[in-house]
Amino acid sequence: MTLSKLVAGNWKMHGVSSDLDELRAISAAAGDYPGVDVALCVPAVLIERAVRAAPGFAIGAQDVHHAEKGAHTGNVSAHMLLDAGATLTIVGHSERRDAQRERNEEVRAKAKAALASGLGVILCVGESLEQREAGRALDCVTTQLAASLPETPERPGSLAVAYEPIWAIGTGRVASCDDIKEMHGALRRCLVDRFGPAGSGVRILYGGSVKPSNAAEIFRTPDVDGALVGGASLKAADFVPIIAAAAQG
Ligand code: 13P
Repeated sequence: MTLSKLVAGNWKMHGVSSDLDELRAISAAAGDYPGVDVALCVPAVLIERAVRAAPGFAIGAQDVHHAEKGAHTGNVSAHMLLDAGATLTIVGHSERRDAQRERNEEVRAKAKAALASGLGVILCVGESLEQREAGRALDCVTTQLAASLPETPERPGSLAVAYEPIWAIGTGRVASCDDIKEMHGALRRCLVDRFGPAGSGVRILYGGSVKPSNAAEIFRTPDVDGALVGGASLKAADFVPIIAAAAQG
C-alpha cells in the first residue's frame, strides 16, 4: 500500500514567540506540497500561539498524560491539547523514555488515551548503539513496538510509528538505507500482526539526523512513509527542502 508521506517536525525544548515567524514560513511553504502531510510538534505552552499563527496547519504536542484529568502536577491531558488546538502528539520519544524513565506500558496508555480522544499519534521506537552493535536491533525494536502499541486498532489511520535509532538522534549519523528498509519491514509485519490489514495503513516514519542533504534518499527507501525531524525542523530554510524531497519520493 502506498501511503501519503508525513513529515513532522519535533521542536523539542526550542521555540518561543519570536520563532513563530519560522513556523508561519513553514506552514505557507507546506501549502505548495499538497500531497505531503506536514506537522510541527512544539512545546506545549506554544501550541495555542502556533495554532493562531498558522491557522489550518497541523500543530502537535511532544507528550501527553494518559489520564483524562486529576492530580498529575505538571502534566497535560489529551483533552487539554485538543482544547489548545493540537491535532496530534508524539509519545514514547527516546528522550522521554530515557530522562523520564517512561516504560512501554506507559507509552501504550498514552497512545491509547490520545487516539481515543481524537488526537493523531506518532509513537517512537528505536534501539541504542549498544543494542545495534550486539546485533539485537531488530529484536529490541520490534519487541518495544509490540509492547508500546495499543491492543486494539482504534483509528489506526491516525497512528504513525517513528523509527528513531537513538544513536542517530542529533548526532549527524544516519542509519543506512538498507538498515532502515530492514527495520521498517519488520515494523510493518509487527503492525499487521497486531492490527490485521489495518496495520498496512499505519505510516512508518524514520527519524535521526534527517537533513535536506539525505532526505531524498531516505524517502526513496521502501516502507518509509515520512520523517520525524528534530534540529532541521527549526528553520524553514532546512525543513522546507525536506518537505519538497518527500513530495518527490
Ligand atoms: P534530529 O533530527 O535532530 O536528529 O532529531 C531527531 C528526533 O529526535 C526527532 O524526534
